[in-house]
Amino acid sequence: MTGVAPRAADLPVVPALDLASALRVIQAPVRARLERVVSHLQRLAGSSTEPVAQDVARHVMQMRGKMVRPTLLLLTSEVEGRVEARAEEMAAIVELIHLSSLVHDDAVDHSALRRGLPTVNAAFSHQVAVIMGDYFYSRALLELSERGEWSALAVLARASHELTLGEIRQLGAVQMLDFAEGDYERLIASKTAALFRAACEVGALVGAPAHRAALATFGERLGMAFQVADDLLDYVAFEDTTGKPHGLDLKEHKVTLPLIAALKAMGPADRAQVDALFRSDDPSDEAVAGVVSIVAASGGLEYARRRGVEYALEAEAALRTVPDGPAKAALTGMLAYVMDRRG
Ligand code: IPE
Ligand code: IPE
Ligand code: MG
Ligand code: MG
Ligand code: MG
Repeated sequence: MTGVAPRAADLPVVPALDLASALRVIQAPVRARLERVVSHLQRLAGSSTEPVAQDVARHVMQMRGKMVRPTLLLLTSEVEGRVEARAEEMAAIVELIHLSSLVHDDAVDHSALRRGLPTVNAAFSHQVAVIMGDYFYSRALLELSERGEWSALAVLARASHELTLGEIRQLGAVQMLDFAEGDYERLIASKTAALFRAACEVGALVGAPAHRAALATFGERLGMAFQVADDLLDYVAFEDTTGKPHGLDLKEHKVTLPLIAALKAMGPADRAQVDALFRSDDPSDEAVAGVVSIVAASGGLEYARRRGVEYALEAEAALRTVPDGPAKAALTGMLAYVMDRRG
């Protein structure tokens, strides 16, 4: 590793056509371990005998997510070459916290589709989503306390709290066309980067405590890049690739980085069209498509892409002091994947 600050061109390039297999390559060193994480997760999520809880657990376990956070936890725990079974249990707990945040997020966002399936709020009800989100959160934290994993509990309780604060800020940001980039940064740091940071920090706690600070920073910056990419995908990707609704952020009046950047550059006629969308309670698909075009033409997508790459480069810089090896190589591969993903 050189001491020179990395440039965008230094990031490994992943062919866009083959991103699912890019993720498979990144996950290859921990593939067998991820299968055990899924078994732990199934046991944790399905541990209630209450019929509703069982139905919801079965439903949400039908479709596996990308398993990005457990992958990060396992890889960070292995940077010094140690393989600890405990890391797999911690990884399942982190994925359960993520799952609970998705169940709540979909209820808050009135979203009907997740991982290509109906969301809990759509398939069951809003009430069930609220209660089951709480159930999964508390189940995860209880598991840590029963195992006496006090350090991991401290890290993950803080991250869960932070995540909730982020979702609260997002609610406050609805209808706020004067939302600034600094506000957006604070919001995504809480709602997404906090859990990425915690996954990497817990990985370090389990297998590489000397690298705890560096890996936590890596996770946080990667999480920022990940949410910027997600917000871009909401503008540009289709449901069949993300398994989530397209254009939902604008429909829900959510102001994310592409729009924040575009608002600074657009003329009064375009601005009037954006204002009209934000005044409408139920914007049409045409109105959403119109604003997507304006954001693209005003350079908002390009700007967000650039910021995402900058976050990814900060994450890469945080890895400098981490020992070279297959785990670090996979963590570096994750950076390019996050910026290039289509789903
Ligand atoms: C979705 O996370 C929520 C965000 C932070 C954008 P993922 O994109 O990791 O969701 P799954 O687990 O792969 O479905
Ligand atoms: C991320 O925000 C949600 C969480 C961190 C729980 P989004 O609302 O953009 O996530 P998606 O797009 O629904 O996955
Ligand atoms: Mg959402
Ligand atoms: Mg949301
Ligand atoms: Mg989104």
